[in-house]
Amino acid sequence: MPGPTTSLWHQTFTVPKRPAVDKDLTTDVCVVGAGIAGLSVAYALARAGKKVVVLDLDQIGSGESGRTTAHLSNELDDRYYVLEKARGGDDARHACESHTAAINRIEETIRIVGIDCDFARLDGYLFCAPDDSVETLDNELAAAQRAGLSDAARVERVPIRGFDAGPALRFPRQGRFHVLKYLAGVAEGIERAGGAIHGNSKVESIEGGAPAKVKTRSGHTVKATDVVVCTNGAISDLVVTHAKQAPYRTLVVALRVPKGSVTDALYWDTGNPYHYVRLQPLDDASDALIVGGEDFKTAHEDDAGVRFERLEQWARERFPAAGERITQWTGQCLEPNDYLAYIGPNPDGAKHVWLATGDSGMGMTHGTIAGILLEALIMGKDHPWAKLYDPKRITLHPRELAEVAKENADVAVQFADYVTPGEVDDVSTIKPGEGRVIRRGIHKVAVYRDDDGVLHERSAVCTHVKCIVDWNTAEKSWDCPCHGSRFDAYGKVMGGPAIEDLGSVP
Ligand SMILES: Cc1cc2nc3c(=O)[nH]c(=O)nc-3n(C[C@H](O)[C@H](O)[C@H](O)COP(=O)(O)OP(=O)(O)OC[C@H]3O[C@@H](n4cnc5c(N)ncnc54)[C@H](O)[C@@H]3O)c2cc1C
Ligand code: FES
Repeated sequence: MPGPTTSLWHQTFTVPKRPAVDKDLTTDVCVVGAGIAGLSVAYALARAGKKVVVLDLDQIGSGESGRTTAHLSNELDDRYYVLEKARGGDDARHACESHTAAINRIEETIRIVGIDCDFARLDGYLFCAPDDSVETLDNELAAAQRAGLSDAARVERVPIRGFDAGPALRFPRQGRFHVLKYLAGVAEGIERAGGAIHGNSKVESIEGGAPAKVKTRSGHTVKATDVVVCTNGAISDLVVTHAKQAPYRTLVVALRVPKGSVTDALYWDTGNPYHYVRLQPLDDASDALIVGGEDFKTAHEDDAGVRFERLEQWARERFPAAGERITQWTGQCLEPNDYLAYIGPNPDGAKHVWLATGDSGMGMTHGTIAGILLEALIMGKDHPWAKLYDPKRITLHPRELAEVAKENADVAVQFADYVTPGEVDDVSTIKPGEGRVIRRGIHKVAVYRDDDGVLHERSAVCTHVKCIVDWNTAEKSWDCPCHGSRFDAYGKVMGGPAIEDLGSVP
């Protein structure tokens, strides 16, 4: 499950596995995906009295939630002044209210269920990247205060010992936790409330209606009054949300620091891509300094090794106490063109099908917001955030429209891969543990040579809407540059929007 790179969370905690679904079921709500979004929705509805069944392709936290850095923040990483310009003051206020409510909801769930997950409330500091000016901070402070963060303030120095990062904005009452310990606790909360969670239960089709029907690869059907799709890249929607968001990979290194040498806070710079830093308690003597950044568009680069080095160097320059590298990992974020997640009715109008996607690098809070919002909507109530997160919304601000056009032009460019040569002409040049796309006649073939030297070939055509996948050296996976579907080295689907594995070679 953890993959070729291992997150600190998987390295330090194992969530007990849940059994596969082994019979047809009828339930009130079927949730697809056991990441933070799926479990937050399931927990909220189970507590509201609904009978809930959760199905996951793999196990709890095996997707992006197990690869997060778990900053819990109501300071938007795309910035309030940007959101306000694109979507207006009311949307900025609702966004602020919802992310604040999400951190409160997490704290409340920890208290109610009794979850021991290293949760802490702490300050977050936003400081300038070297090429940025304090004007950015001033703009953000004013917009964040207008949005509702009245206690945000400018400070003259970030509390980093041994490095002066200049003035910063301080955001009180942010949070952090150990995500897998949290998810394990929420899962127990769901089960205590009568819900069931099944791992190793891949969903292959979702049909709206009364009842809605979910079919698994094992041939079982779950009939449900409502289905909620929380597969990160939504498998219930072929086009609408995918045309309005783009997949980016982000990288993380964890470095050991002596306890007390770094102030326990969240740190972000204003770079693009930006750096994000936090601590995680390890033992009596040390903490892990978790440093993220170096993002790139999925399958557009394959140089994670260099990026990990740059990230580590960046951290060592600013945090002189940083010691050995404990681990490193990468993961994927879906960036919606107008900065906020898509949470609500499935956009194709399928009856009683709902989704949560478009995490925007703030999926800990967006996933939790899905729990609050979808509970209300499924219980038949209105909610003031429904319009803000509506998956069908279209933002008409020119900058965001230009972004949609740019990302979709890039998708169109990917189809040129059908006529380009393969990455290598001869499979003998593919080293053990590596994959390359080759051309064979009119076909593109994804070829992986395993550690024993055996070649494994699959069609390189992504099973979502047929872009050509690329090899990801760091994670030993085939990643799709168009909407972020991922397949393991042997072509087995790991994450949507694709549902089917890579096909056999024609
Ligand atoms: C490196 C990194 C750092 C991040 N840092 C932060 C941060 O500091 N703060 C923050 O708020 N956010 C952060 N994020 C974003 C956040 O981690 C994600 O947005 C969030 O975890 C997504 O949760 P999810 O439940 O939507 O998806 P996932 O956790 O990916 O869950 C989706 C689940 O669906 C399952 N699934 C997929 N297809 C199927 C199928 N066909 N059938 C059944 N199940 C299926 C998968 O197995 C998976 O378990 C970060 C992300 C990364 C990668
Ligand atoms: S993810 Fe859409 S074509 Fe591959």
